[in-house]
Amino acid sequence: MKTLIIYCSIHHNNTEKIVNYILEKTDVEAINILDNKDNIALFEYDNLVFASGIYYGNMDSRIYKFIEENKEHVSGKKIFTMITSGLMSVKYEDTINKELDVRDLVSSGFYQCRGYDTYGPWKLIGGLSKGHPNEDDMENALNFIKNI
Ligand SMILES: Cc1cc2nc3c(=O)[nH]c(=O)nc-3n(C[C@H](O)[C@H](O)[C@H](O)COP(=O)(O)O)c2cc1C
Repeated sequence: MKTLIIYCSIHHNNTEKIVNYILEKTDVEAINILDNKDNIALFEYDNLVFASGIYYGNMDSRIYKFIEENKEHVSGKKIFTMITSGLMSVKYEDTINKELDVRDLVSSGFYQCRGYDTYGPWKLIGGLSKGHPNEDDMENALNFIKNI
């Protein structure tokens, strides 16, 4: 089973840190949503994992745009979602699942961990979720991917 992670990580590379950890330890492949995506052979993959930092309560909108632009390849695959966020208390999974639902997709699994956050007022107090993702977060992310 081939897995591709499509990720967005624009604040502190928190999400990318997790993705890179997975890439080092598995044969999973990944692309950054900001990179040129013209030559991705999506049909080769069985599983697609959408990973993003949380920005204003949701994944980066370019993830959803990618889904829409590649609808015929995305539908029919197993879909998974991974996020890093400053806060753990908010139900981002529900928001993301609703976004997938309106695009006729269902997530088969969700992973979330904290990610260092210095956006807006958090900067004044030295940031939120400092030190994350840490070793445990990355191991948990790796186990999530190994179990899909
Ligand atoms: C513009 C912006 C908005 C954010 N909004 C939220 C938010 O609504 N909820 C939250 O928990 N974290 C929020 N964060 C924190 C990020 O989700 C967190 O730092 C995440 O790990 C960033 O991932 P990245 O470094 O891969 O981009 C926000 C960060 C930025 C820069």
